[in-house]
Amino acid sequence: MIMRKQIVVGNWKMNGSRVTNEILVSHVINDVNENVDVECVICVPFPFLGQVQTLVKNSELSLGAQNVSDQVKGAFTGEVSASMLTEFGCKFVILGHSERRMYNLENDVLIGQKARSAIANGLTPIICLGESLEEREAGDTKAIIKRQLHGALGEVGHESLERCIFAYEPIWAIGTGKTAKPEAAQEVHRFIREEITHIDNYAGQQVRIIYGGSVKSDNAFELFSNDDIDGGLVGGASLSGEDFKKIYLAAKQKNK
Ligand code: PGA
Repeated sequence: MIMRKQIVVGNWKMNGSRVTNEILVSHVINDVNENVDVECVICVPFPFLGQVQTLVKNSELSLGAQNVSDQVKGAFTGEVSASMLTEFGCKFVILGHSERRMYNLENDVLIGQKARSAIANGLTPIICLGESLEEREAGDTKAIIKRQLHGALGEVGHESLERCIFAYEPIWAIGTGKTAKPEAAQEVHRFIREEITHIDNYAGQQVRIIYGGSVKSDNAFELFSNDDIDGGLVGGASLSGEDFKKIYLAAKQKNK
């Protein structure tokens, strides 16, 4: 069995300030340095990239952004390019988060184009997939995930599949305190892996698929201990240094 390196990603969303960022980062940085067998990333708002780049310098804590343009440069007011992100030390970028799909009307094709642009600049896209409560109740979960996955991959190109991380984030579990039951999450993760395996067997074994949606310190281990769950994408709980640290350490336990 291939051992995939576990990864825990904090998604700060539109939160933070210069003062609180410093406190938050100082809370987790030492544990991350001591436990290099699990990767740890924080995805921060654009204006804080420079500050947090300095804070994480010479540490094992990696930096990411929460969005990127699909375009290289030019007259795109308000947009940020992938090369700009790399200048600030970003290694990862979250794409296709349900909040961006909902509030910014991002679709599968655009998300795939953004991922392609990220990969071309050496960034690892973390592509979010997930169904709404209505879609789940209608029994459409797998069909939705399949559409989102293949829609994005059509743009990324199958040869770059291995450069992506996927995050399964059921919309009804985000910020609601309702976590998907570990078995239910595992079932969807397995499905995503099978879909990828159909395209490329090796990539199917290699690609990391992380879970997001009300991951907390008290449910993280139960979720992460499933075979096809390779870590987590953590929103609310990543804003507490203590909680995020515990979630990070829960991912480490899986390797034992
Ligand atoms: P949550 O958010 O952990 O607050 O549910 C997860 C996410 O939206 O990435």
